Amino acid sequence: MSKLILAPSVLSADFMNLKAQVDEIIEGGAEYIHFDVMDGHFVPNISFGLPVLASMSKSVDKVFDVHLMISDPDKYIPEFAKKGADIITFHVEAVNDLGGTIRLIHECGAKAGVSVKPATPVEVLYPYLNEIDMVLIMSVEPGFGGQSFIPGSLDKISALREECSRRGLDMDIEVDGGIGASNAQEVVKAGANILVAGSAVFKGDVKGNTESILAAMRNV
Ligand code: DX5
Ligand code: ZN
Repeated sequence: MSKLILAPSVLSADFMNLKAQVDEIIEGGAEYIHFDVMDGHFVPNISFGLPVLASMSKSVDKVFDVHLMISDPDKYIPEFAKKGADIITFHVEAVNDLGGTIRLIHECGAKAGVSVKPATPVEVLYPYLNEIDMVLIMSVEPGFGGQSFIPGSLDKISALREECSRRGLDMDIEVDGGIGASNAQEVVKAGANILVAGSAVFKGDVKGNTESILAAMRNV
């Protein structure tokens, strides 16, 4: 089984205290920083982008897990890679040439993640599994933090894990949306190894929340 990793989404952080909160998630054991980019077009919300990533990646030595919820990701991928993205995830619903976008990310020196929205069957990715470094299964509609986990996501996760095992692929499967200490265990049990959590990490005791979610993940 691939390594279990928690990727706190800084979308839910207090931006006036970003440095202190990022220190807390790292002390709590988080290994990835999940960076949600929204363009107000692919999703009905706007978050942050390149300048924020550039400042953060300069001073934080962790894996920057950039989730592009944007139309026309090819246009911006090279800049995100330059500004410090280690993993660049785009949405299958946002591109015409899935294989081409994966290749572009690799040419830019980053790992390629591909994400599916709740209504998109994960099987659309099966022809590309050998090229993909990480699959991101959305367990809420992308666009906002703080929504409830869609239970049907569990079947998608286990179907994908089964397909990857059948092919001998040690795929990273990340799940994003509505995850906290109370359901982290079942998401890992279904076959995910990287969990994103926003509000469950940044509401209250940030370090303590990070530790509790990681403990729940490991208690499978
Ligand atoms: C949703 C984002 C998520 C979000 C997760 O569009 O992709 O990463 O911040 O937030 P929670 O954990 O609060 O659902
Ligand atoms: Zn995300």
